[in-house]
Amino acid sequence: MSDHPLTLTTIDDARSWRAAAHSRGETVVLVPTMGALHDGHLELVRRAREEGDQVIVSIFVNPTQFGPNEDFEAYPRTLELDVAKLKSNGCCDAVFAPDPIEMYPFGSNKTWVTVDRLGDHLCGATRPGHFKGVTTVVARFFTILTPDVAVFGLKDAQQFFILKRMAHEMGFPTRLAGIPTVREADGLAMSSRNRYLNASERAAAPIVNRSLQTAHHSISKGGMRDVDKIILDIEAQLLAEPTCRPDYVSVVDTEELQPLESLESGSQVLIAVAAYFGTARLIDNTIVDVP
Ligand code: PAF
Repeated sequence: MSDHPLTLTTIDDARSWRAAAHSRGETVVLVPTMGALHDGHLELVRRAREEGDQVIVSIFVNPTQFGPNEDFEAYPRTLELDVAKLKSNGCCDAVFAPDPIEMYPFGSNKTWVTVDRLGDHLCGATRPGHFKGVTTVVARFFTILTPDVAVFGLKDAQQFFILKRMAHEMGFPTRLAGIPTVREADGLAMSSRNRYLNASERAAAPIVNRSLQTAHHSISKGGMRDVDKIILDIEAQLLAEPTCRPDYVSVVDTEELQPLESLESGSQVLIAVAAYFGTARLIDNTIVDVP
């Protein structure tokens, strides 16, 4: 472990770093990020340290996962600060921060990795093309770095389930580890987009987690099985906050991510919310094992 993460910017250098680790018989753990690192990311990096010998954090604001009217241009780019945070965190050996031209050598991309069906609902429905961009760039990172383990936050649960399916079906030798969402003291999920919130939006935003926890409790302790009612209850709590505009509230299975009509005992379900507070679109979820 080094307290000076080595910053790599080219694919050749990243491959050489990987090969050197391999020749020493060391395993490699990748933490893919888009930078603007917060404590949630740093927790992922700490957890990555427990998963293998060498930890590499990729920092790349991936253009292909942003829609035309999304915040690609505005997305915070804070590489120096990110590297400083990783240095003080002490768990990262290398940073891979490629230029867009390294990742997309022809500018407009022609080769895509897509996962059918799992991206049809939740964020996939309101962000067309988003997951195609995510799976394509992550497949590219996996090809370049062949990590033994890749660590992802479960705040992006749909992303995690899609990437897991992609890695399995593509035969990548990489195990995906999903890490529980890291939260502020009031329960708000940590996110790079929280910095867009003004004071009143920030005060209102924890309602997302509170409404999800109420639903979780009503299923696991209160015997609730009525999906329509679960969704209506969450929506009502969100709409009671004047600064909140719900984007979606969904209850899906955790295999194919398809909407459910009722909940079956013994199944596992994902309840997911996306909601705008001002211009910030926040997501959160809870995974429930139905008793
Ligand atoms: O979760 C993210 O930050 C991104 O979607 C990821 C996985 C780094 C791909 O760009």
